[in-house]
Amino acid sequence: MKTWTREERYRVLKDPEEIRPLHDRIAASPYRQTYHIQPVTGLLNDPNGFGYHDGLWHLFYQWCPWGAVHGLKYWYHVTSTDLITWKNEGVCVKPDTEWDNKGAYSGSALAGHGSLYLYYTGNHRDSDWTRKSYTCLVRLGEDGTAQKAEAPLFGPNPDYTEHQRDPKIIHDPKTQRYYILLGAQRKDKTGCCLVYTSKEPFSGWLFLGELKVPGFEDFGDMWECPSIEQINGQDILLFCPQHLTIPGRGNARNHNGYLIGHMDYETLTFTPIGRFHVLDRGFDSYAAECAATIHHNKDRAILIAWMGLPDAVYPTDDEDWSGCLTLPRVLRMRGRRLIQTPIEELKLLRGDVVPQDAKTLPRACDLELHCGGQDMELHLFTRDGGRGGFIISYDHEHQLFTVDRSHMKRRFNNGEGEVRKRVLENGLQQLRIFIDHSSIEIFVNDGDAVFTSRIFPKEEETGYQLSGDAMMKAWQMRSAVRDDFVI
Ligand code: FRU
Repeated sequence: MKTWTREERYRVLKDPEEIRPLHDRIAASPYRQTYHIQPVTGLLNDPNGFGYHDGLWHLFYQWCPWGAVHGLKYWYHVTSTDLITWKNEGVCVKPDTEWDNKGAYSGSALAGHGSLYLYYTGNHRDSDWTRKSYTCLVRLGEDGTAQKAEAPLFGPNPDYTEHQRDPKIIHDPKTQRYYILLGAQRKDKTGCCLVYTSKEPFSGWLFLGELKVPGFEDFGDMWECPSIEQINGQDILLFCPQHLTIPGRGNARNHNGYLIGHMDYETLTFTPIGRFHVLDRGFDSYAAECAATIHHNKDRAILIAWMGLPDAVYPTDDEDWSGCLTLPRVLRMRGRRLIQTPIEELKLLRGDVVPQDAKTLPRACDLELHCGGQDMELHLFTRDGGRGGFIISYDHEHQLFTVDRSHMKRRFNNGEGEVRKRVLENGLQQLRIFIDHSSIEIFVNDGDAVFTSRIFPKEEETGYQLSGDAMMKAWQMRSAVRDDFVI
């Protein structure tokens, strides 16, 4: 594995031609995706600034051009008219001012003000490498350029450590005020969320205080990417607590999850109902972002996450690229549960039906399984007449659904655990599985649980086998994400 010097990681991209050879080289990788957003070169992490404006969906991702390394971060811009076909638009927010000299870090979008406004963290480092975070504003110009505000909206809060970032902009109709949530770390090294407020979105921001979340005062040492969404009238606090272990998740230390509850902006309290839920039960999912809610998608809350993890190493690191985004998912409440379903539009990408007697599956496919509730097993990516593979199974007696990646030839991030399980109180009725060249997303019982993972099958891992109480139909998926070299 390559070791990067600080100079290499934080090198400024001056001329796109510097990375064209890298783009052309990675285009030949068997692990390049065909209907998932992936980095044009280098590393992709969090989705940012997701919103709809003037007939287009805009989405950005954290991008380091040089390779699979967390170095200088830019916001790379992609657009779509339908949320399934995506076009590369090039770099938007660049780390080119004093307050973001070492990275334009994560943030969110505000729609419905004549343009899309982007709120991001300017990651500033002093010459002695002390970090200072600034909350910054950008207006997305008609031509896709970033029109930066002259100065940050506010700077670092001295009462917290240097870890303060990821502004989420919210408008609360009840108090008629705007709020910015920031993920932060207290000086006693516990994670929390800071709240700023203003009467109007582009100036006048004041620190209000910490978000009170009773019962979660000591839950991880930093909260990244916080957000409060209203789903079918229910408040949800989404965040990524870091450096804690959660039963059933191996040694994984970074999690993306949520609390269901009630948000009161007057008392700055989010009162949770019940426990912390993991958003995705698979191996690779983090930093989820919901689209800014506006008239167009008011009744459709859409979430996209990074299909990756902080501090993790992936097989494509050696090819100088890593990361991709999940498919867009619609969030809904079903009773007291948050349900995630793939957006309907994905059916438009279905091509030919895979014949029932096929011995292999295409590298990009959509699988639908109807299950009777008795035991079943689906082995994907098997080799040599059925050995190995990625095993999905259901054990009726224990109502246990299991995903096991330990039999794949290429194993990675084993510390996260290689098996994930979930008890299905209502049995197993249905599975929808999306496979692209290096990912698998499994939606159980119409979104009751989701298991998202990167996979890196070798050439010979092409077979599949289904046994037990399930019927499967498979479709080849068409390409939908253009890998054009646009910087
Ligand atoms: C989450 C994160 C954010 C930060 C960004 C930097 O993965 O660490 O907190 O803004 O990535 O790329």
